[in-house]
Amino acid sequence: MKLFTSVVLFGAAVALVSAAAAGTEGEISFEYHRYEELRKALVSVWLQCPTITRIYTIGESFEGRELLVLEMSDNPGTHEPGEPEFKYIGNMHGNEAVGRELIIYLAEYLCNQYQQGNETIIDLVHNTRIHLMPSMNPDGFEKAASQPGEIKDWFVGRSNAQGVDLNRNFPDLDRIIYINEKEGGANNHLLQNMKKAVEENTKLAPETKAVIHWIMDIPFVLSANLHGGDVVANYPYDETRTGSTHEYSSSPDDVVFKSLAKSYSMYNPVMSDPNRPPCRKNDDDSSFKDGITNGGAWYSVPGGKRSPEPSV
Ligand SMILES: *[C@@H]1O[C@H](CO)[C@@H](O)[C@H](O)[C@H]1NC(C)=O
Ligand SMILES: [Zn+2]
Repeated sequence: MKLFTSVVLFGAAVALVSAAAAGTEGEISFEYHRYEELRKALVSVWLQCPTITRIYTIGESFEGRELLVLEMSDNPGTHEPGEPEFKYIGNMHGNEAVGRELIIYLAEYLCNQYQQGNETIIDLVHNTRIHLMPSMNPDGFEKAASQPGEIKDWFVGRSNAQGVDLNRNFPDLDRIIYINEKEGGANNHLLQNMKKAVEENTKLAPETKAVIHWIMDIPFVLSANLHGGDVVANYPYDETRTGSTHEYSSSPDDVVFKSLAKSYSMYNPVMSDPNRPPCRKNDDDSSFKDGITNGGAWYSVPGGKRSPEPSV
């Protein structure tokens, strides 16, 4: 199986860890982890590095699987003033499994390198708080993985168990910002005034609701969301201002986001290769430059956390 990744950035910037695979003491075994194996992998990292890790769950999927997070920091469980909070989410589309594996591997890598005395990693762990969620859609993944036979339908398991595309299920904050731009109003911290609306919104999947609560509880400054389907670092905004399909949609932090996206893509030679052919024959990657793209310029996604599958 070919490994495709794309990464989506959110938030205000501090630094970025490359999730690109690098060799540690053990080579990476690219074996997909089923739900139980994923739990075990996180528990072994915790057992190996107990002083700098903590496992917690932000809630349950529709079918009752835990939405597990491994946290890495010098004081796990504590928000320390001045220490930036990061989050990585993989596998929100259950069929896009590479990000899930990369995040498990990132946890193992950070723990191994920390123990081996790698100064860069020790610095990172001591001065940031990193939250790793390998799967936001464990039900979708299990559905995709339990198809019989070697050849699996790639589209199965994209949605959650209720059939909700989680990447179209978040409150459409871009639209609110665009209205506020015209009529006056905030372009940040919008969820804080939406607590009641979130509670009462029956269209939100349990996975989406759990992530919204998580975002409101912890002051994340930077987040990345790993998808499958193309190889690019995608930065906000994702929805176009006019509603057109393709249109560069800059946020006030456009310059920062561009440089963050580039700092990711430059560590991935395949991503930043200007001569890389499209992943699929008819993919429109004309907005890609140096392995990065603005979300709206690629294609507009309302209510998302981004997906690289045009037309779905
Ligand atoms: C320490 O970690 C950094 C960041 O991942 C990496 O670039 C570097 O090669 C590592 N150093 C050693 C000695 O492994
Ligand atoms: Zn996706």
